[in-house]
Formats: sequence, C-alpha cells, structure tokens
Amino acid sequence: MTMTAKQDKLAALFKAATVIPVLTIERLADAVPLARALVAGGVRTLEVTLRTAVAIDAAKAMIEEVPEAIIGIGTILNRADLARAEALGVGFGISPGATPDLLEAAAASPLPFAPGIATASELMQALDHGFGLAKFFPAEQAGGIKGLRALAGPFPNVRFCPTGGVGEANATAWLAEPNVLAVGGSWLCPAAEIRAGNWAGITAMCRRTMKSLKAA
Ligand code: 3PG
Repeated sequence: MTMTAKQDKLAALFKAATVIPVLTIERLADAVPLARALVAGGVRTLEVTLRTAVAIDAAKAMIEEVPEAIIGIGTILNRADLARAEALGVGFGISPGATPDLLEAAAASPLPFAPGIATASELMQALDHGFGLAKFFPAEQAGGIKGLRALAGPFPNVRFCPTGGVGEANATAWLAEPNVLAVGGSWLCPAAEIRAGNWAGITAMCRRTMKSLKAA
C-alpha cells in the first residue's frame, strides 16, 4: 500500500470513529467484556495500549471475539512494538511520539500509523517520512486548542487526533477544529470501572458521550 493510501485509510477510520478510547488492560479477562461494553455504547474503534503485560493477548482476544470492533495498538514506542502490532493484524497503530527509527519503520510498514507530535520540529520529522496525520500528544498539556491552532498556520494540511486531557467536557470543542479528525482518551474506560467490571456503566457513558457529540 502506498503512503497516501495508508494515510487515507487511517483518516477515514479516525473520521468514522470520532472518539477513540485509549485502553489500559490489566487483566486479560476484562478485554472482551470491555470491548463489548464500548461497542454497545456506539464506540467501535479502540486503541489497546502496550502498557501492560497482557496487552497483546487482550488485543488478540478482542479481534477474535468482538468482530464489530476495530482494534488498533497504541503506545508503540519502537520498531519492535510496531512489529508486534503488525503481526497481530490490527487495523492501525499509534505512538505518543516520533523517533527517527520508528518513523522509518512505520513508513515501510503496511500498518496505517499515526506518530505522536507535540512540537513543530517533531511534526516536521513526521512529515519528512510522509506522515500527514498525527496524534497531538499530550494535547491539553502541550498547548490545548490554542496550541493546535498555532500549528495549523505553518502546517495547514496536517490532520490530528488530539489525546491527553481530552474528556467529556472538552471533546466537542476539540472536534470542532477543522484539522481534528477524532479525539482519543481514557475517559470512556476509567481504570476503576474496568477493575469493578462496571460494563453497563461504561456502555452508558459511551452512549451519553456519543449522543452529545452528535447533537453538537
Ligand atoms: C494517551 O496515551 O493517549 C493518554 O494517556 C490518554 O490521555 P488521557 O488519559 O488524559 O485521556
């Protein structure tokens, strides 16, 4: 797949998703019920972060048992993480950052991939490798909506998925920015709710968020 085709695929996926929950799964047994709870709430595109020992198995279980979900891998920090995501056959990969080595590997990989950027120089490195769609991270802490608007000046064609500090209160404002395709965050899957197995609560929260975003 060409770089443009990969980017177009990812852009379409992000646009359709609107909201991408960032999942940290501690117990493998939580993976499938969590994915089902999110899907039931209208949230289908899920980022499973490589932050726990069970992350890869959790993603695998979700792919096998929740086919309505589109599973991606997040917290891809290096070439080896990228290879693990690729081997799983996930829909997309996301990184909080953008090292030259990771960018090179991701550009050569068939996996649609969004590098993470917080500064103009990081974005320029991503663009040098052909990435015109990036995760803006940590979005609130790195300047918020004003910071993103400032980046839109020199980089009018770059599109973003802001993540970090995004939640129910500000998701609508972020999504109203013309260069924002989707927002990501952990607010739809709080660790305490996962630990408690409050799947109905997670579904209800997703429904509420999706309803308010649609209304806006
Ligand atoms: C991420 O990796 O994208 C962030 O940890 C999510 O940020 P949040 O917890 O502030 O939503």
